Amino acid sequence: MGIRSELQVVRHMLFPRARGTRPTERMESYYAPTAHAYDAFRAGDRLLHARGALYGRLPLREGDHLVDFGAGTATGIERLGDERRRLCRRITLVDASESMLRVARDRVERRGWHNVTTVHADATRHRPSDGPADVVVFSYALTMIPDWFGAIDHALSLLRPGGVIGVCDFHVSAKHPPAGLVRHAAWQRLLWPVWFGHNNVFLSADHLPYLRHRFETVHLEQCLAPVPYVRARVPHYVFIGRKPAAASPHPAEEPCACS
Ligand SMILES: C[S@@+](CC[C@H](N)C(=O)[O-])C[C@H]1O[C@@H](n2cnc3c(N)ncnc32)[C@H](O)[C@@H]1O
Repeated sequence: MGIRSELQVVRHMLFPRARGTRPTERMESYYAPTAHAYDAFRAGDRLLHARGALYGRLPLREGDHLVDFGAGTATGIERLGDERRRLCRRITLVDASESMLRVARDRVERRGWHNVTTVHADATRHRPSDGPADVVVFSYALTMIPDWFGAIDHALSLLRPGGVIGVCDFHVSAKHPPAGLVRHAAWQRLLWPVWFGHNNVFLSADHLPYLRHRFETVHLEQCLAPVPYVRARVPHYVFIGRKPAAASPHPAEEPCACS
């Protein structure tokens, strides 16, 4: 990446702009100035470290419909590899930023991916017209969706029973995390939410517990990885879960046991 584009992205991260009330307005105003340099700044596993692990592990079957929410520039789909990408009957890339989707459409066209389409929409609302999805993905998108409960519940409602959700993202642990989840040091739990929050990326201790609550865990990994220009390592996770055959209703809708 040229030094000029690199500086442009760094300046944008230091002085970000995200205006508007709707996700489509906010994300477009945030990404429009640097969408052209998005991929170069994050080339390889720089910054968004867990993408390879997520897309490499997604259990795909012939004829699947994969919906990638907050798909950005479509690099995730690139990481599926030709053979696994061709297995899918259909791949839908959903994003709230038109500028990011423009880069995605360009990639789709250049690669000749005939089974891939893009949709400009909010991840908490978009519903494919041709029935349930088989696989739903959020790659570094959940932390940018304020209504992330809504996004997860919406994904659950779109999936067929037995369908798969794949999520990778930044996170921080709770002070006293549930069994099976790592505990991060106090400085990590304090620093990273403030650091990333400046760029509209909201790290939470609740994403992973909620995913584990709504889905059967198929695969979970938690790791620390470097951030550009900083000596410290930031926590990431990869979660792959399966929608239970008989998914329980939303917790808020469960009948009250008290009399
Ligand atoms: C950090 S980027 C990740 C892009 C891509 N998934 C990747 O791994 O490189 C987050 C993406 O989520 C999109 N996004 C944020 N909120 C969204 C929402 N409510 N609905 C749809 N997309 C959203 C942003 O526009 C952006 O493209």
